Amino acid sequence: MSKEILRIKAETPTQLYNYVNAKLIGLICEEPDPLANLANAAALLYLLLDDLNWAGFYLMRESENALVLGPFQGKPACTRIPLDKGVCGAAARTGEIQIVPDVHLFPGHIACDGASASEIVIPLIREGRVLGVLDLDSPTKGRFSAEDGQGLSSFVETLHRYVAWDELFAGR
Ligand code: SME
Repeated sequence: MSKEILRIKAETPTQLYNYVNAKLIGLICEEPDPLANLANAAALLYLLLDDLNWAGFYLMRESENALVLGPFQGKPACTRIPLDKGVCGAAARTGEIQIVPDVHLFPGHIACDGASASEIVIPLIREGRVLGVLDLDSPTKGRFSAEDGQGLSSFVETLHRYVAWDELFAGR
């Protein structure tokens, strides 16, 4: 069977994210390696969502009180984000989804790619522990809505079901 993943023209965000989620399950449900699964998850979002210039993960390094760059698609990015900095830091610190319509108006925004105009960051929280964040950037202001927040939250739920976080964080 072909593993090719096609972009679809969805009628609604719900339809789009149902499709993205189904493809994610297909990609990661039989693969035990957590890093491989996060890499494919980032690539899937970058392929299937419109109007992105960056999609990927920052993973918590508690000993440094910072997030460290994980698997992603897009231009090379800053490797470390202290929890008191940036949109990613705010998501990890508060445990809440951050939707930033104009990154230039966000105090402490870290500009990794000058093309980024808006951003959404979903915290990865399991059993009360912040494991990291999922970060998407767009070159278009106001690109992300509450519906993207809901769709990406269910994407993250799927990650929690299949990604072997304990293995990934062993020794971190
Ligand atoms: N803009 C982010 C930093 C990460 S890059 O967007 C990939 C922030 O302010 O948290």
